[in-house]
Amino acid sequence: MLTSLELDPQKLPRHVAIIMDGNGRWAQSRGLMRLMGHKAGVDTVIRTVRAADEIGISVLTLYAFSSENWKRPASEVSGLMTLLKSYLESELASMLENNIRLRCIGRMDKLPREVRETLQASIEKTSINTGLVLNLALSYGSRDEVVGAVKEIAELCVAGKLPVEQITEETISAHLYTAGLPDPDLIVRTGGEFRLSNFLLWQASYAEILVTEVHWPDFTREDFISAIATFQTRQRRFGRTGDQVSDKT
Ligand code: FPP
Repeated sequence: MLTSLELDPQKLPRHVAIIMDGNGRWAQSRGLMRLMGHKAGVDTVIRTVRAADEIGISVLTLYAFSSENWKRPASEVSGLMTLLKSYLESELASMLENNIRLRCIGRMDKLPREVRETLQASIEKTSINTGLVLNLALSYGSRDEVVGAVKEIAELCVAGKLPVEQITEETISAHLYTAGLPDPDLIVRTGGEFRLSNFLLWQASYAEILVTEVHWPDFTREDFISAIATFQTRQRRFGRTGDQVSDKT
């Protein structure tokens, strides 16, 4: 059995982002309602946060609800919102105890008021924590995020506060929801599909991507450690040749 002791502490990804897919299929294959898959998925969220914290990951981003997920049946959307609120309520004490800082990326303004208020309160209460950053992507869409950044930057230009020629990659990054966070080093997608689904498109430029067939509710601590172990075998070249990277020239 793989344990975190087998990971190289010098080569840990700073930021792991996860597309938590397969809840519906997990439930349907057991003859259960899709929402039962999401409910089981909450338990996986809890154990993955715990594992990330213990391993020493700095940022864990979880794609919990996309801007496109609003198109799902109303009963599934409201069920997910209820699960999210109860997760936030039940896990706040653990976040405080474990020095976890909660953040959110996405259109928080679109969330139902009671979810938004609970989320906002948890973000504020954990804001002085200095350990793992738990970053929930909620009503999140990467293209929408980029459009928002472009609008903010354009407004600064129009107001004469930012010369166009001074716009850099850092300018764009600083206007995304993820401002101040490192880009993801590793993106894990459960459920076996090979796509990014409008997730962190700008930030994923140099991320290592790992797809596992395991459905999110079945994703174990060992699967998480195994994903990090695979990441540690990858050679990250950032455009250089393999020889340059291994020579460190
Ligand atoms: C995708 O599976 C999953 C979601 C759209 C929701 C993810 C939500 C949770 C794991 C629980 C709530 C989150 C938190 C942070 C408490 P899918 O339904 O698309 O699965 P399928 O592809 O098998 O249909």
